[in-house]
Amino acid sequence: MQQDFIELIKWSLANYAGLPWRTDERDLYRVLVSEVMLQQTTVGTVLPRYESFFVQFPTLESLAEADEADLALAWKGLGYYRRAQNLYKAVKMIHQSGSDFPEGEEKLQEIPGVGPYTAAALTAIGRNELALAVDGNLQRVLSRYFLIREEQGPKLQKAVQSLMHNKLFAKIIESCGPRKFNEALMDLGRSICKPRNPKCTECSLQSSCKAFHEQCVEEIPHKKEK
Ligand code: ADE
Repeated sequence: MQQDFIELIKWSLANYAGLPWRTDERDLYRVLVSEVMLQQTTVGTVLPRYESFFVQFPTLESLAEADEADLALAWKGLGYYRRAQNLYKAVKMIHQSGSDFPEGEEKLQEIPGVGPYTAAALTAIGRNELALAVDGNLQRVLSRYFLIREEQGPKLQKAVQSLMHNKLFAKIIESCGPRKFNEALMDLGRSICKPRNPKCTECSLQSSCKAFHEQCVEEIPHKKEK
């Protein structure tokens, strides 16, 4: 199992290290903005807007002190404007409390618009500390890999999140580095382990993937009956 994840990280670095938010040093403000942008918006849509956003708002302070109308203009094309409104509230709140992000996933969730996913992304991707940022991609990849047959919904979400309590799995995340680990799984879910027609022959995790062995990859995660 561990070797497969090492291969997965190598694949991710070889193919996606060039994404503009994958810098050596991570600024939590930038991680917050990019994760909010990437929720419900594809990488392809975010890419052309990412750099110009940080030219206009290079620091948390600059966004906190900006006019909301300017943020609305910069957000054009990204959709789901409510996310930008929450982001604005979030940076204002952090700015008022001295510009430091709180420690720990629980406290991070006290920031407006920061739910379990964003708190885990700030922890794993921003701080490189042990966490699993379970979005739709991670939910699909990990429910297939461990063959979790729970129906899609809160129970599956919980089951995937609680993989963190699996000591062997947590050890693998630590040894890969939580940042690289989460990013590699996101890349896998986006480009290989897709909902339909997953490209299992190209997947580094194929040999240890339980759903692949059971030949039921496309059936997982189970959809709710309509
Ligand atoms: N989707 C959500 N967050 C992402 C990230 N940091 N990299 C790539 N895809 C993502």
